[in-house]
Amino acid sequence: MSPGNDRILVTCGLPYANGPCHLGHLRTYVPADIFVRGMRKMGKDVLFVCGTDAHGTPIVVNAEAQGTTPKELVAKYHAHFDQIFKGMNVKFDLFGDTDDPESHHRTQEIVKALVEKGHVYPKEIELAYCPVCDRFLPDRYVEGICPYCGVSARGDECDQGCGRHLEPGEIKNAVCKVCGGKAEYRKQIHYFFKLSEFKDFLLKYLETLGGTASARNYAAEWVRMELKDWCITRSMSWGIKFPGHDELVVYVWVDAPIGYVAFTEEWCAQNNRDWKEYWQDGAKIVHFIGGDIVYHHCIFWPAMLKGAEYTLPSAVVASGMLKIDDKKFSKSRGYVIWVKDDYLDRGLHPDLLRYYLASYTAHNKEVNFAWKIFGDKVNTELAGAFGNFLNRTLTFTIKNFEDMTPPGEIDPEVISRIEGTIREVELGLEEYEFKKAIDSVMTLADYGNSYFQSHEPWKLVKADKELAGSVLRSCLQIAKALVILMDPVMPSKMEDAWRQLGLEGTVGAQRFEEAAVPLPVGRKLGKPEILFGKMEDATIKELDDIFKERMIQAESKDKKEKNKLMETISFEQFKGIDLRVGEIKEAERIKGSNKLLKLVVDIGTENRQVVAGIAETYTPEDLVGTQAVVVANLERAKLFGVESQAMLLAADIGGKALLLRPQERVEPGTKVR
Ligand code: 2FM
Ligand code: ZN
Repeated sequence: MSPGNDRILVTCGLPYANGPCHLGHLRTYVPADIFVRGMRKMGKDVLFVCGTDAHGTPIVVNAEAQGTTPKELVAKYHAHFDQIFKGMNVKFDLFGDTDDPESHHRTQEIVKALVEKGHVYPKEIELAYCPVCDRFLPDRYVEGICPYCGVSARGDECDQGCGRHLEPGEIKNAVCKVCGGKAEYRKQIHYFFKLSEFKDFLLKYLETLGGTASARNYAAEWVRMELKDWCITRSMSWGIKFPGHDELVVYVWVDAPIGYVAFTEEWCAQNNRDWKEYWQDGAKIVHFIGGDIVYHHCIFWPAMLKGAEYTLPSAVVASGMLKIDDKKFSKSRGYVIWVKDDYLDRGLHPDLLRYYLASYTAHNKEVNFAWKIFGDKVNTELAGAFGNFLNRTLTFTIKNFEDMTPPGEIDPEVISRIEGTIREVELGLEEYEFKKAIDSVMTLADYGNSYFQSHEPWKLVKADKELAGSVLRSCLQIAKALVILMDPVMPSKMEDAWRQLGLEGTVGAQRFEEAAVPLPVGRKLGKPEILFGKMEDATIKELDDIFKERMIQAESKDKKEKNKLMETISFEQFKGIDLRVGEIKEAERIKGSNKLLKLVVDIGTENRQVVAGIAETYTPEDLVGTQAVVVANLERAKLFGVESQAMLLAADIGGKALLLRPQERVEPGTKVR
């Protein structure tokens, strides 16, 4: 075992300082916080850091659009996330920012180390360049077509299609995001990290990587498939300078994870500790991330750390996605819940949402959020089972035993149930099975309720007061255990419950093992209060209405935007488009794509190979022998590795495409006007 193995560093994926916190974010941060609190209750020395991700083109584009600077935008959202995390009881030891000086310094150190060790090389590549804006167009400055699946994509990511990371220059039909003009491709020297050399290392490393199995399995699959060298520089000024080249910054995915190291350094400097204990001495490093950034954390990041000789992460814990009302989360479509406006500012308690997110399903599965389910969970599980047990135990004891923990033996069966639950909770947390851990606690609450019910203390107080005391002390022992074991999930509610039980100190300071330690007899109990109030149907409806209204508005905005007419073009410009009737001679599917077909189209003078995104509407058999309108003079493009030499016109009906055809058969090549 390496020396630092009892020391755990936990990090969370860094939120971009580019927009408000939504429920999808919390899917990662809440379980990570539960894990940290749980590990501390198991006696581990845990450091928990996070921060905002300050760089990258979306932030620059957004700042430009809002008439502000990237720095100001980042400061605004840094403060926002900091406040939200505190409001949600997600308690980082340090919440930094990748624009902090420590982050600049550490990034340059790591990049320099990679360069010195021969893992980085320069290469001339062709990049999208906007002649109107007079600049290169890195990442989100450019939009176009994914070369792998043919779907509209952002510069660095095929977000609507196959999900691949796109390297600079890979996107086809590039258009400048700022002015909307057609981009050119120009040559420029960039720096590449020799990722391909890390293939064997990664395959071996991934076999031993802890965390969620799906993360390491996906990553291993990607590594086996292809591992291209990775372009790690960008031509822009906002970011961290590439050492020795003031005109270049490093790609945001280089400095973002290095933020984990920099934040550790910041905390260590403030707390008189050595950051190397974590990053160069084999501490256990656990990254909690969203399921959409597995590639970066399981491939880019360990390869960088290995190359620069830093400690490798022990576990990558990837959360499943979030759905709202069973629909895929989407800000533009209004399927979103904003944590501040829709939740905290409405006076809803953070712990209820924490409980929902962690107990809904396994960590790597999809969580569906709906206000109706939220209400049901609060009313049945929290108010009905957990809260009710605490309340009836306390109220009954106070009424019959003068506000004190009664004397009497604690039932040995109760102690052994509690011990079993402690083991289950610890195991659940160690295996990142948060739902399992919570379910065990809830089973103990159910056990408590049936224990109370079946022992009928209301009869016993009259018939055998001593036995009644023993039953109630046993129930109070279960209550104490419940509060300690649930504390990582609902820390402020459990602090309230701890006070009601009249116990010493704070529940936050208790280890799990304390749950089985017998309660002192004769200790004064606190004042029982309703821990979880029931949620009224009207409140649930009100919250749901707000969400539904947003969805309707987003839908109509989306429709309006889609229907907005484009700018007028001159007749000359229109005449420049060579439209003809073509006849489809051959058609076949393109392997690996469910959207694209490869066609051979007769345009009168010649046959053209056309790649068309119509496979969702037509089978190849539907098409052969039919006619459609063709743009004959469009520049050639490669889609999914196949050259397309023309384009077919089609009506766009919500993603599917209906071809435009002449009403009756005409000679192939007939002009369309
Ligand atoms: O995907 C994202 O939201 C990124 N900002 C996450 C960065 S995590 C890490 F690598 F820093
Ligand atoms: Zn794609």
